[in-house]
Amino acid sequence: MKLNESLGMSKQRLGSSGLYIMLMSIHGLVRGRNMELGRDADTGGQVKYVVELAKELSHLPQVARVDLVTRQIIDPELDPDYAASLEPLGEKAFLVRLPCGPRDYVRKEELWPYLDNFADNVMQYIVNIGIRPSVIHTHYADAGYVGTRVAACTDIPLIHTGHSLGREKLRRLLDIGLSKAEIEKEYNISQRIEAEERILEVADLVIASTQQESTQQYSIYDNFHADRMKVIAPGVDLKNFHPPCEDYRAPHIKQDIERFLHNPNKPIVLALSRPDQRKNIHTLVKAFAKNKKLRELANLLILAGNRDDISDFDQGPRKVLTRLLMEIDRYDLYGSVSIPKHHKIEDVPFIYQYVVKTGGVFVNPALTEPFGITLIEAGATGLPIVATNDGGPKDIIEHCNNGCQIDPLDSREMGKVLLDLLTDRKQWQKFSQNGSKNVREFYTWKNHARIYIQSIEAIIQKRTNKKSNTISSPVIKNDKIDRLIVCDIDNTLIGDRDGLKAILDQIESNDNVGFGVATGRGIESTLKILSEWKVPVPDYLITAVGSEIHYGGNLSEDLDWIKQSSYGWNALKIRQLLKNYPGIKQQAKANQRKHKISFNVLDEEEFDYAHLVSLLRKSSLHANVIYSHGAYLDILPIRSSKGLALRYLASKLQISPERILVAGDSGNDAEMLTGNTLGVVVANYSEEIAALRGQPSIYFAEKSNAWGVKEGIQFYKFFDDYKIA
Ligand code: GLC
Ligand code: MG
Repeated sequence: MKLNESLGMSKQRLGSSGLYIMLMSIHGLVRGRNMELGRDADTGGQVKYVVELAKELSHLPQVARVDLVTRQIIDPELDPDYAASLEPLGEKAFLVRLPCGPRDYVRKEELWPYLDNFADNVMQYIVNIGIRPSVIHTHYADAGYVGTRVAACTDIPLIHTGHSLGREKLRRLLDIGLSKAEIEKEYNISQRIEAEERILEVADLVIASTQQESTQQYSIYDNFHADRMKVIAPGVDLKNFHPPCEDYRAPHIKQDIERFLHNPNKPIVLALSRPDQRKNIHTLVKAFAKNKKLRELANLLILAGNRDDISDFDQGPRKVLTRLLMEIDRYDLYGSVSIPKHHKIEDVPFIYQYVVKTGGVFVNPALTEPFGITLIEAGATGLPIVATNDGGPKDIIEHCNNGCQIDPLDSREMGKVLLDLLTDRKQWQKFSQNGSKNVREFYTWKNHARIYIQSIEAIIQKRTNKKSNTISSPVIKNDKIDRLIVCDIDNTLIGDRDGLKAILDQIESNDNVGFGVATGRGIESTLKILSEWKVPVPDYLITAVGSEIHYGGNLSEDLDWIKQSSYGWNALKIRQLLKNYPGIKQQAKANQRKHKISFNVLDEEEFDYAHLVSLLRKSSLHANVIYSHGAYLDILPIRSSKGLALRYLASKLQISPERILVAGDSGNDAEMLTGNTLGVVVANYSEEIAALRGQPSIYFAEKSNAWGVKEGIQFYKFFDDYKIA
């Protein structure tokens, strides 16, 4: 199906004011059928969650369309399904795949440099589709980060689900003895945590799966807002997960399971998870091995993803699987542990039923478990569960009374609990019945969707500046121009008169090129300095570090931008809080704007940037703090920056970021240099943006000031008569 066809249908429904929900989940392998859960570390419960959520929401009468936006992967090693830009998930639900960095598979920790590009691609998609989503609902920190950018430019409410949290992960990894440096290298954890702080600062609603996640895991963030949290447990697909009935059939992998076992009729202890260190399967193996009675009584079945050749795996899963096989060998568990190489997701409901028939149990020994979808699926099938004493299992066992909690580090206790449960058949029966009955009551997607829709409708209503769901025609479209050049002023456009003249002449002689500036200065000071340097008044002026936009004959200010970008802004309180902050001093009155508070940094040693950011966050003062030249500190509304203002302007002009050349030299330019814009950094740049080197579409010029801009124009062949893709 083509995008246009899918749109025609949706537009009809949206005409009758239905909700258009955009879900976003970027990493892993996402498709509607035959999900390859467990194939790699990024394709697990979250993928299943988002696909099921998309389908369920699309069944509701209030919903006109659901798009689940993910990353497009064009990789010869993978199924071509992941390359399709559109995959219908149902009558009103679609999977939309957009490019994000390289074409082939990239693990989530390495996607960070491409997320600004992905955000631009999402915004372009919204422009193409011509309909404003009613909400954007992001999943995990990567999509959340993208959501903060898209929400800021479009003023669409942002809903977020973390699935797992960086601060929690950091704590856990430190606990097991990894150093901060190791964790950073492997997981890019500080970038993830910073993104999560941002998301919590901006999101209208954060959905957690359990009470513990909401109150204990999120509360360690500076931006924790209890009033924006909502616990909505995920659901289980009840059509597939139910106790064995007349149409019971053995799982396809029955023989595969049994070829490992001396006596396949014994009750089975089943563990099913990705081969991830956190899942702690080796402790279960130890628990089983060391409990003689348990070994005699039961078999252990481990389904840890699919494998052909373990040596082909990444280090993480390779280590986990190697260790498992070594433990099986060490304790000589041959004949009583089954560890099949393959299983298909469609077979899982039958595997659970098969284990029920042996009178077995399901065990999840993970070190921590934010939710654990498998627990409710196994429970719904009638398997008693034994699970880690943590977030998800706690809630599930409390609601369903269908199993026991264990300490994941205590293998001896684990063995004992399993043995007791398998021997006490009365208890087994009770847990089995409770599970299949109570999961049906507490964990249905229908329930989830009902509470979900109530919550988002409340949010949409709360937004006073509620907008219509069609994108209004661009107010300031100028048919003459098809591309734009936007320069920072100080140290970029100005500083070298000859270079300046050279590029001004070039711009002047190309009618199809619009000209803009983006500066830290206020509008008055901008006009003054431009006139001193004999620069004609630009078509578009982004001033006060993006907090103001002016254009048109009389240079009037765009008031819509002010309204949407000033979200959560409280200048008075910020001024008060930072009045005597060490190492900084407020700049002159003339530099203070309604939506920009500026300081000079007097003493770089004394001034603690990270502390200041955290202080603002803990005081619930939402702000974007931008440090430039080691000398200036600008505090802006959280939805304000040169980059965001530029994108807002670009969408009004209907010019996509790929057709905008931006040039700058310092920290306050960073956000307009990343993403799909054609970035140029002049040679006299200041240290804080050195890290942008190597990022996609950012050119570091060899020349300084305007000569550097000119070099960038040549590099991109920007004025040439070519059609930009
Ligand atoms: C300009 C502004 C100043 C700001 C600086 C960095 O110099 O006048 O207020 O702090 O840019 O953005
Ligand atoms: Mg500058």
